Amino acid sequence: MADVRLSKLHRLNGETTVPGDKSISHRAAMFAAIGDGVSTIKNYSSAIDCQTTLDCMRSLGADIRRSGQDIHVHGRGLRTLSEPDDVLNCGNSGTTMRLLCGLLAGQHFSTVLTGDASLRRRPMDRIIKPLVGNGAEIYGRQSNRLAPLFIRGKSLTDVIYELPVASSQVKSAVLLAGLYADGNVQVTEPVASRDHTERMLAYCGVDIHRSGNVISLGKIRQLAAHDFQVPGDISSAAFLIALGLLVPGSHLRLKDVGINPTRTGLLTMLEKMGADLRIDNERPVSNEPVGDIVVQNAKLRAVEIGGTLIPKLIDELPLVAVIATQAEGRTIVKDALELRIKESDRIAAIVGELKKMGASIEESDDGFIVDGPTPLHAAVCKSYDDHRIAMALSVAAWIADGESTIQDADCVGISFPEFYDIAHNL
Ligand code: S3P
Repeated sequence: MADVRLSKLHRLNGETTVPGDKSISHRAAMFAAIGDGVSTIKNYSSAIDCQTTLDCMRSLGADIRRSGQDIHVHGRGLRTLSEPDDVLNCGNSGTTMRLLCGLLAGQHFSTVLTGDASLRRRPMDRIIKPLVGNGAEIYGRQSNRLAPLFIRGKSLTDVIYELPVASSQVKSAVLLAGLYADGNVQVTEPVASRDHTERMLAYCGVDIHRSGNVISLGKIRQLAAHDFQVPGDISSAAFLIALGLLVPGSHLRLKDVGINPTRTGLLTMLEKMGADLRIDNERPVSNEPVGDIVVQNAKLRAVEIGGTLIPKLIDELPLVAVIATQAEGRTIVKDALELRIKESDRIAAIVGELKKMGASIEESDDGFIVDGPTPLHAAVCKSYDDHRIAMALSVAAWIADGESTIQDADCVGISFPEFYDIAHNL
């Protein structure tokens, strides 16, 4: 695995786009495969995770062709898919595995899903329980908690579930299973999580409604073919936004980025910290809000965050720790226990590595506490093979004195293969 060596940046300037949104790309590929007719997906994510989803869908018999940047998917309706002749490997991608569980629960065939070492350690009972509770048949290792998973497709009647924790992957899996059910379908979430599934199903003509935190499907459950333009990934843009804010003299424009309000928690937080941010050219694209994010270097003050904001910036929290080291005062992040069960234990990982760089940061059970500002210094840091830890530490290295090493940094390809090239060009 490749290490990278990074040292202080002095000024970033210019404009760029970022690759297509990872969450939205997974959904676009799955939904197009079970749509009625030919769908075109533009700006499909270059993330390895999203290639994994395409590979799994092909193994399930989906007809997916690439032409340049566009992907054409020939769907034949909800019953398009067929039994794969081998195990499906979901790699590092939790979204692929969890959404596929929902998609496959109501099919007329069986499937086995596995993943890499990290994915095989992540909790799958959160998916198995709601689906099995509604009549599906899914088994996993260690008392049905871990992958590999075996799914014996079965016909489903009612699919009704109340989520104990906010998770868009669980919500989406339940809704996907619901497409194949012939009874009532209703999901209740404790706090709003990212709503790309709901938006995309509505865009494809599915009868879907939200009332408060309850989402239900009506009678129309087949998907029309669609042309879909995937917005730039705000979770990738986040690392560039942080560089724009933290590197003196910087001024950046990030074009055509998805600014769905269930994903913009980082922007809300940064505004509270006194960041100089602006959104231009805001418009809807394929039922998702999109805009250009303009950012420049600014002095930041500490904030306290928790509660309903957390699901809106869950993937950005390792980066929040880095930003907080440069803000005046004590930053407190709480209610983020979910961070411990991502691709790595992201609380332990970011706190341990930032300490090596001189940050004043401590773990709490469900978050971390940072006192700033502190100058960071070079260190040899572990990525834990976690793409977002590698990128957050890279931002830290670019504002630190001396030359840092980020070990096994090629894991950034999981979500943002162009990360180092784009930062370099800016
Ligand atoms: C995702 C949902 C979130 C997020 C993950 C992608 C999705 O996970 O952290 O990176 O695409 O639905 P949870 O559903 O576990 O919160």
